[in-house]
Amino acid sequence: MAKQIWLLQLMQRKSSLRNPQSNRWAGIFPARNSTKGNQMFAMKYAPKVFAELVFENDMTRKKVEQFALGQRTNNILLYGPYGSGKSAVAQVIASQSRDETAGWFENLPHDTFNGAEFEAASLARVENGWNLSGQPFAYAVIDEFDLVHWTVQARTRAVMDKYLGRHGLILTTNFLHHVDAAIQSRCDLIEMPALSAASLVPMCQRILQCEEVALNDADVEQLITSRNGDLRGVLRYLERLVERVNGEQQTQAA
Ligand SMILES: Nc1ncnc2c1ncn2[C@@H]1O[C@H](COP(=O)(O)OP(=O)(O)OP(=O)(O)O)[C@@H](O)[C@H]1O
Ligand SMILES: [Mg+2]
Repeated sequence: MAKQIWLLQLMQRKSSLRNPQSNRWAGIFPARNSTKGNQMFAMKYAPKVFAELVFENDMTRKKVEQFALGQRTNNILLYGPYGSGKSAVAQVIASQSRDETAGWFENLPHDTFNGAEFEAASLARVENGWNLSGQPFAYAVIDEFDLVHWTVQARTRAVMDKYLGRHGLILTTNFLHHVDAAIQSRCDLIEMPALSAASLVPMCQRILQCEEVALNDADVEQLITSRNGDLRGVLRYLERLVERVNGEQQTQAA
């Protein structure tokens, strides 16, 4: 509690930040409304395109970029700890590669499933989605693939083989060893490690700048460290801090 108050005391709005001309991140986070709309940061700042994603290392960044731009196509398995951005990366690859390779229908959404609810019948929906997409290579996303029953995992293998080179799946998991080895062998494996404080500082600063709140890098880093690289926790913490700064300023103004 004392630490939060201390952080808040360090936070000050800067008049220069209210000037849109001074927002050097404007191209990356274009004109999103401020917090006053009460939209959760997890939704408000959910990355939509590759340029908004944060990566812990260049190898992962390069691989994801190739898939997002449609330069490379395959089944993909993203694995790593909770809150490291796997589902966000899956969504960006599926939607950006669709836009890059312009199918028959613009903005036709790709299907996204959760492994806990994915059944054999869901595979038919995946196939329909691919066949209707009109894309040279369309994706469907299955989050938490480790939760898919092993018999359904076996059927998924057959579908992957049937559509090899034509359409693909993007799977995410926290537990790689719970994913059938034969599924793994049909995918490009991309590790998404927990994000370090150093990697997350620029993203947090962009958000604070959009919210017109100033905090120095060392304090932002301390805030992130307290959340152990969990993006969800970091965004929630930023949201609370911004809310409190706004609340205190309203009280002072009254
Ligand atoms: N680069 C990013 N910039 C801003 N927010 C991000 C970024 N990547 C992810 N997020 C946000 O962080 C939160 C957690 O990300 P995500 O859900 O992708 O993690 P995950 O690795 O799939 O977690 P889990 O293993 O629990 O499913 C989401 O709200 C997401 O929108
Ligand atoms: Mg996820």
